Order: sequence, then C-alpha cells, then structure tokens
Amino acid sequence: MDKDYAKYFVKPSIKDARKRKNEETPTINYDEHFNIKGIGKGKHYHVETYGCQGNEADSETIRGILEALEFTWTDKLEESDLIILNTCAIRENAENRVFGELGRLKKYKRNNPDLILGVAGCMPQEEDVVERILHKVQHVDLVFGTHNIYKLPEYLESVILSKERVIEVYSEEGSIVENLPKIREHTKKAWVNIMFGCDEFCTYCIVPYTRGKERSRSPKQIIKEVQELVDGGYQEVTLLGQNVNSYGRDFTDKNYTFGDLLEDLSDLAIPRIRFTTSHPKDFDVKTIQMIADKKNLMPYIHLPVQSGSTEVLKRMNRKYTKDSYLTLVNKIYELIPDVSLTTDIIVGFPGETREQFEETLDLVKACRFEGAYTFIYSAREGTPAANYEDNVSPSEKKARLLELNKVVNDGYLFGNKRFEGTLQNVLVDGESKHNPEVLAGYTEHNKLVNFVADKSLIGEIVKVKIVEAKTWHLLGEYIERV
Ligand code: SAH
Ligand code: SF4
Ligand code: F3S
Repeated sequence: MDKDYAKYFVKPSIKDARKRKNEETPTINYDEHFNIKGIGKGKHYHVETYGCQGNEADSETIRGILEALEFTWTDKLEESDLIILNTCAIRENAENRVFGELGRLKKYKRNNPDLILGVAGCMPQEEDVVERILHKVQHVDLVFGTHNIYKLPEYLESVILSKERVIEVYSEEGSIVENLPKIREHTKKAWVNIMFGCDEFCTYCIVPYTRGKERSRSPKQIIKEVQELVDGGYQEVTLLGQNVNSYGRDFTDKNYTFGDLLEDLSDLAIPRIRFTTSHPKDFDVKTIQMIADKKNLMPYIHLPVQSGSTEVLKRMNRKYTKDSYLTLVNKIYELIPDVSLTTDIIVGFPGETREQFEETLDLVKACRFEGAYTFIYSAREGTPAANYEDNVSPSEKKARLLELNKVVNDGYLFGNKRFEGTLQNVLVDGESKHNPEVLAGYTEHNKLVNFVADKSLIGEIVKVKIVEAKTWHLLGEYIERV
C-alpha cells in the first residue's frame, strides 16, 4: 500500500544500522552534472537546523546543493516554496520540537499547496519516526537521511516534476562524498568534517545508528579544504567528528592519527583551529602536546565525561573509569596549564544512585570545568539503555539536574574570573545579540566577550582587555588590532 504514494521507498532499519563492515569506506566525488540545474529558479527555500555542529554542517551542504539548483534563501516561512527541517534525534525533546513545528507548518501548506516540506537529518534514520511521518504527518513530501544528502537534486526532481512523495533513508552508510557544495553560515569561522559516524555505541546514544560506521576523510582532502578556507580569508576552523581522537583508526593503508592531522593543519596559515568532540578513552598525549606547542591550536578542550561514577560509566559503555578520566585531565593541566575545559554530563541514567550522582558533583569540582552541557537522560528506542530498569523518578532527575547546574555555574564564573585584568585575543563575530551598539566575539579559550569598538573590526582578531567577568560572558575594552 505505502509504495503507491511514494516513488522511492527505502525505510530505515535499526537492525541494519547496527551493522559494521571491516573494509575502508570508498570516497566518491559529488556529481554536479544533473540536468535539472535551474529547477529552483524563482523559488525560495528555508532550512531549519535542530542538531549538533555536524547537523549544522549538513545544513550548509543542503543549502549549497539548493543554491546550485538556483533556489534562493528566505527567512520567511510564508514566502517559501521549499522548507527543509534538518532534525536531531539525540533526546526526546529534540524530536518533540520537530513534530510541533511540522504541525505548525501545516497552515503554510494550506495557503500554498505547492509548498514542498522536507524532513532530513537524524530523525528519519529511526524506524518509528518514519512510520509516524508516513501515517500521521501526511503533509510531508520528502524524507531523506544523513547518508544521502547528495541525492537531494534527484529527490527534488521527483517531488517537483512528478509530484511524488519521496521517502528514501539508507541505514548503512555508502561512500564518503567529496566536493559537495556548501553555503557557509559564517564568513570567518568554518566547520570542517574530518570524519563521519560513530563506532562507540554508548548505551544511551542514538548517534551510531543515525550516523553509521565511523569513516575518516583522507588527510589530503581535509588539508585541501582548510587551505581553501585560508585562501578565502577564514580565521577559524572547527574540526568535527563524534570522536575526533579516533580519527584515522579506519585507514588501512597508513598509520595517521588525530595528533598527526593537528600537526599538519597547524602548519597552514589558519589563525585558529578548534575541534569537537573528544572521547576521553582515545585522547592521546601527542594531541595534548600539539595543543601545548602550536600557537594556532586553541587552548580549549570539550571533553565529555557523562558521569563521575565508574559503575555508571561502565553501564554507559564509555570504556574509561573515573580515575583514568582524572589522570587524563591532570595530564592536560600539566602540559597546558591555562587550558579551559568543558564537558557534557547526563544525570538520571537508569539506576544512577544518589551516591553515584554525588561522585559526578565531586568530579566536576575536581576537574575545574569552566562550562558543561547537562542533560537529563532520555531513553532512545533501539539503544541498549532503553531496556535498562530505570528506578530514578522524573522529579529526582530534575532535582539532580538543578543541583548539578549550580556547581557547573560556579565553574563558569570561576573560569571567567581568572581572565579579569588580562589581555585577550578576540575574534570579532559581530554585533551583540542583546545590544547592537556592542560587539561580541570569542577569546582563544572560547569565552564570549562584549566590548565597544568600530564595526569595521567584525571578522578580525583584536586585542581586548578584560575588565569584568560575568557568569556567562566577559566585558572588555578594545585595545588594538592584532
Ligand atoms: N560524540 C559526543 C557527543 C554526542 S551527543 C560524545 O561522545 O561526547 C552530545 C551529548 O548529548 C552527549 O555528550 C551526551 O551528554 C548527550 N546525550 C546523548 N545521548 C543522550 C540521551 N539519550 N539522553 C540524554 N543525553 C544524551
Ligand atoms: Fe554517542 Fe558515545 Fe558516539 Fe558520542 S561517542 S556519539 S555519546 S555513541
Ligand atoms: Fe543530533 Fe544527529 Fe547530531 S542525533 S546531536 S543531529 S548526530
């Protein structure tokens, strides 16, 4: 039955998404020679982005493909001919936001029956989500996943020219696709994917299922992309991967690690290199040494710990202990004494006891984190932890989150205070969101600074004297161009 109203019909399967192949992933080049180049002429599009930096980078690719097809960006939903929601599946509330938005978008579809509504990203990689869209959200015209963005022109051709509903989601990754067009959000800061997928299978996490096997891009391609960004006047790149520290583990023809990549990239004329996300179990000394030695590797590390209890970490399948995490943090502080560390923490993991939660509080203090993303555990269908017995009540989970956030906020303020009176290099992002008279930018340690200076400095790295630390930002005085 379903096949009758969808041209392509490949539905996701969690079982297939769990499979891992041993061979290295092939690389192909994006083929721009489709014969529908002008299909977007005179049409407006809008993309909404719900997820992590990898999801943001995918939106830049979606935009690049659409603009190559001559679609024009609009902020206004009411004048859009094509709206794509690029979704995230990491927690239930992320998914609820998308279903809420799909409900709201129905009225635009009523006003403009030719409006094409697409759902992309991590949610379509889940079986139950595609079922729900199919049967309950019938005003969606196009569903594709994380592995087949490059096929968007073909799907649009079917939806626009043949007026067919297209649903195509692959559960297994295909090739790494190079040379995809991109419309980057920022003109001075860029995301650079160094790898895709994740092989860690932390028991709470959906990402290994939505993003597939871990595949590293070739160093040559990454270096080429960063060099092009340098040539284009970019000041900062952030290298992206779910576990950047395992970069290169899948190469069969060479021994080349994340530390090697950092070393090669630091030779390029890019003033700032950042990376995310790090996995404590794979963070090696060469990486720490590189950050310590190279001026353009920023002294800021996001190092998700998830829990301070070895017992909970074991049930999360994180493959490190409280002690090995502390040893790593101490090594980082030893080699990069002024580094700024931040983390991710999940509270209320199934079976987490009060004592185990307190171990997390202690660890947060011991590590001197200067920031943390904190989450209440959210069960994800198809992951092992979704079947664990969960005896922590929702109200207890909420209370733990609030208690943890108090400790985390002390760290934010302490981490900002230490910069009072110092001179910092700041990459000027633009006007402050709250006050257009004030500029906003980030220090090397990734601290937000507000200061008054001429708008012509936007996009440049400048020296700022930090005069006052607030919990969430610093106030500064402009000194000079660097
Ligand atoms: N690859 C990164 C982060 C991926 S997701 C890493 O390994 O750290 C970002 C964060 O979301 C995770 O660090 C974790 O803290 C949180 N998260 C992931 N799955 C979750 C779930 N089911 N419930 C609550 N938080 C979750
Ligand atoms: Fe998820 Fe763990 Fe992979 Fe991070 S490392 S994406 S938390 S499975
Ligand atoms: Fe979300 Fe997918 Fe990123 S689930 S966090 S958008 S990898």
